[in-house]
Parts: sequence; C-alpha cells; structure tokens
Amino acid sequence: MNKKPLLILLGAVVVFLPLSNLLGLSGKNEPISVVSGSTPNFSKVSEVFQNKCVDCHSPGMTRMPIYANLPIAKQLMEKDIRNATARLILNKSLYSGEEKFTALDLARLEGVLLNNSMPPHLYLSMHWTAKLTADEKQTILAWISEERSKLTWSIDSSKDLKGEPIQPLPLKVTVDDKKIALGQKLFHDTSLSGDNTLSCASCHDLTKGGTDQAKVATGIKGQQGPINSPTVFNAMYNVAQFWDGRAKDLQAQAAGPVANPGEMGEQWDNVIAKLKQIPEYQNAFQTIYEQQGLTKETVTDAIAGFEQSLVTPDSRFDKYLRGDNGILTADEKSGYELFKLNCASCHNGPAVGGLSFEKMGVKQDYFKLRGGQLTEADNGRFNVTKEEKDRHFFKVPILRNVEITYPYFHDGSVNNLNDAVRIMGQVQRNKNFNDTEINNIVSFLKTLTGTYSGKSLKQ
Ligand code: HEC
Ligand code: HEC
Ligand code: HEC
Repeated sequence: MNKKPLLILLGAVVVFLPLSNLLGLSGKNEPISVVSGSTPNFSKVSEVFQNKCVDCHSPGMTRMPIYANLPIAKQLMEKDIRNATARLILNKSLYSGEEKFTALDLARLEGVLLNNSMPPHLYLSMHWTAKLTADEKQTILAWISEERSKLTWSIDSSKDLKGEPIQPLPLKVTVDDKKIALGQKLFHDTSLSGDNTLSCASCHDLTKGGTDQAKVATGIKGQQGPINSPTVFNAMYNVAQFWDGRAKDLQAQAAGPVANPGEMGEQWDNVIAKLKQIPEYQNAFQTIYEQQGLTKETVTDAIAGFEQSLVTPDSRFDKYLRGDNGILTADEKSGYELFKLNCASCHNGPAVGGLSFEKMGVKQDYFKLRGGQLTEADNGRFNVTKEEKDRHFFKVPILRNVEITYPYFHDGSVNNLNDAVRIMGQVQRNKNFNDTEINNIVSFLKTLTGTYSGKSLKQ
C-alpha cells in the first residue's frame, strides 16, 4: 500500500478521534452490554475483554468506530480483525464463562500481557482509554494462573507453581503392559520395512532422544528424506503428528512410514504376512486383540500404545515444578524467565511444545536467513491445507530433551542449541539476545532432559 495516504489518514484520525471521543461521537464510548463472568475473579477479566479486546478478537462483535467508513481505515481494521481472530477468539461463550479457555489461549494471553503488546500500539494511539491498567494486567495474570491450576496437567505441580506455562510430565502412565510390550517389539522390528533393514527405532532411537540425530532421515536403500526426524518421546502430547500435522494421532501416524517408499517402503499386506509367520506375534495379538487378530489396525494400535508409554519424566525442571525450589541455578532460573517472556506463548504445556502450528519466521524471514532453495517441505502446514495463510507454519516442536534431539528445525539445518535459540529470538521475536541471555536460555532448556525407564536420557 502507498504509505502517503495512510499517513495522512492516520494524522487525521489521530486529531479527529480524541475530539470525537470528547464529543461522544465515537461508537467506542458506548459500552456494549457487558456480560458478567462466571466467577467474581473472572467477571473483572471478562469485563476487560469485552471493553478492550472484542473489537478485534470477537467475530461479529465489532463496534466499528466512526472512522471505520473511511476506505483505508476499513481495510486496516478488517486486516487487524482477520489477524487477531486467527490467534485468539473471544466469543460470548468464552467471556461469559460458559466455555473454558484452552491452555494455548492462556499461554498466548500471558505472552501479550508480559510483553505489554495488546491492544496494539497503533490502536492505542487512537483509543488511549483501551490501554490496560497495571491493575487490570495483574488481574488477568492472576486469573490465568488460577485457570492453569485447574488443568489436570498441573496436578503434580507444587501449589505455588500450578500457574506456570509448563507442567511436569507424569511419573507413571496408564497403558496396558501387554500392549506396551507388543508395541515395543514392533517398534524395533525390521520386518516392517521392505528390505528388512529398518525399524521405527532406526530413525527414532530411544538412546538418542527418540531421533536419529541426523539432518534428515535416511530411508531404505540409503534414500535421503526431505525432513528432520522429530522425537517420538512425549509425542502423545502433539495436537497432530508430523511437522505439518497430516496425521491426526499416533495410530494414524504409524501407518505412514511403513508404506512410504522413501522410508520403510513396504506394503502393509506384506508386513502382516511376515508377522503372521512368527508364533510369538500370533499369540500376543490373539491375547490383546481377541476379535481382530493381527491386522494393520492392530499393529498400528499396538505401536501407538507403546508410544503412549514414551514419557520422559523427572527432569530437573520437573523436580523444580514439583517443589524442589533449590534445584535450579540462578542462570537456569533467569533463562526460564526469558523463556516465559519470549518463547512460552508457543512452547508450553507438559511437552513444552506440540500444541499448535506456528509460522517459522513471524518477525523475520527465516528462509532468507537460512539461504538455499525453498523445498516442498518448507511449505509446512500449507501442504496439508493448501491455504496460503498456512505457508511456512509447522507444528511447534517439543522441547523436552532438546539438548539431545539435534540437529534442529524441520530442515535439520542447525546443529547447535545456542544457534537455534539465537535464530528463534531473531525470527520469532525480532530480538538479538546477547551471549549471556542465550547461554541462560540454553541452560534452562538443558534442565528439560528427563528419564526413560528410570535412566537419564543424557548419556
Ligand atoms: C485493534 C485490534 C486489536 C485489539 C483491540 C486487541 N488486539 Fe489482540 N491482536 C490483534 C492482532 C492484529 C493480533 C495478531 C497479530 C499480533 O500478534 O500482533 C492480535 C493477537 C493477539 C493475541 C495472540 C498473541 C500470540 O501469541 O499470537 C492475543 C493473546 C491477544 N491479541 C490478546 C488481546 C487482548 C487481551 C486484548 C485486549 C486487552 C487485545 N488483544 C486487543 C489485534 C487487536
Ligand atoms: C526412515 C526414517 C524413519 C522411520 C523408519 C520412521 N520414521 Fe517416524 N518420522 C521420520 C520423519 C522424517 C518424520 C517427520 C516426517 C514429517 O513430518 O513429514 C517422522 C515422524 C514421526 C512421528 C511424528 C512426531 C511429531 O512430532 O510429529 C512419529 C510419532 C513417528 N515418526 C513414529 C514412527 C513410527 C511408529 C515408525 C515405525 C512404524 C516410524 N516413525 C518410522 C522418520 C522415520
Ligand atoms: C511464534 C511461535 C514461536 C515462538 C515465540 C518461539 N518458537 Fe521456537 N519454534 C517454533 C516453531 C514453529 C518451530 C519449528 C520451526 C521449524 O522447524 O522450521 C520452533 C523450533 C524451535 C527449536 C528447535 C526444536 C527442534 O527440535 O527442532 C528450538 C530449540 C526453539 N524453537 C526454541 C525457542 C526459544 C528458545 C524461543 C524463545 C526465544 C522460541 N523457540 C520462540 C515456534 C516458536
């Protein structure tokens, strides 16, 4: 857009609006009929949302200010509303308290409050009364903590830390032991591949943080894949599986690599035939899946069952969350504070990621910075939805055990965690962290390394 008319318009608006506010001309001064929240604490929060946020975040609720009929202002507002509602919807069932905010909503809200970034600065220059007061900010932050303390995820957090954006991983999982044992065997069985050379574990080595620690995966016959192998540890926390989310859950995911010619390159019929020749499998499937026996569905179900057991609890950070306040060093704690301020709006929850799809390069063009040709894999979520708005969006990776799940990013282009953090600061936050900040964030990230089968994953 040509900048000149925009500046003139903004100038006019800045002069006009305060005047119109004084004269009571602007629609902004008429409060919409405020719905009260369900609890006293939430009532205050709800009121703020309705008075200061719904204009952009509530589809259909927008009170168009008087200048909204000016052509450029209209376009700008429509764009704002589109972008705002893509990130957070504040509809009536939410601000009335009927419906709960998700953990992701809470993390995004906390992010904008800590950074004082909402309402947007340009908007505030025209609607200065919409600025959040310190008191309102505190009230919303306290309510976020309160909501988080109700999540089942935070059940093991110590009383003071139930409001944190990260929750400890459970020490025990409730999956049928027989199914775990069967799934574990299948996960390590090379008969799932066309030339009997690869198992799931070839690319998701449980002694390498559930990855292959390689830039991209290598399939049968030495074929180089298009993308980096993510970890299978804690993958059950992912909203969907794969970098682009094309599999809805672990069972659907497990069907993929077997039939993928570039990975295990085997037909499911052959896999079933091969497994049926092994009496041990016959027996196990008969016991666990009496009705169905040995089929593609039961094989993938058993693998998914095993993957449900791949939790990595008891990291130093989890010990901290459970109440061992002295366990973190000052550097680790200050790294965590930086993380909460800059990273936790995307990397949150028990797995410290996996809950949403986010753009790689919110503030700066990552692909330009990286250089090289754009690949199909770089399209990310776009490949699934074919919607332009999803180009370069990826499932936020899990940061549990990140110290050993190198190399980093979907393209495996970064070997070193310090570099990955520096790049995240740049492209997602427009921040150039200094060396101390990066070192502190990295030392915090290293506290996320957990245990599997009672042993530390870091060997
Ligand atoms: C003038 C329109 C406007 C108003 C008013 C507004 N927002 Fe936003 N909001 C946006 C836009 C545009 C985005 C998306 C782009 C961005 O994050 O800057 C957004 C994004 C967000 C996000 C998502 C942040 C993330 O992590 O992606 C949250 C949370 C949010 N707003 C909360 C609020 C709250 C709370 C209020 C009221 C105090 C508010 N907004 C008022 C326009 C608005
Ligand atoms: C040749 C290497 C290779 C083999 C063999 C392999 N995978 Fe993967 N796995 C990958 C790659 C690469 C991805 C990411 C692909 C993508 O997102 O497009 C992936 C993704 C996954 C994911 C999704 C994780 C996430 O965060 O989205 C899970 C779960 C998984 N694999 C489990 C398995 C299972 C179970 C098997 C065996 C049936 C298996 N993999 C076999 C390389 C492999
Ligand atoms: C806007 C959401 C968002 C924010 C904010 C964000 N990240 Fe990320 N992060 C992502 C996405 C998406 C990826 C995957 C990008 C890719 O692979 O191309 C990622 C990848 C990573 C990785 C690589 C993990 C792996 O296994 O490949 C690390 C490490 C990381 N982020 C750390 C951070 C840190 C530290 C911060 C704060 C300074 C941060 N992120 C802020 C969304 C975000």
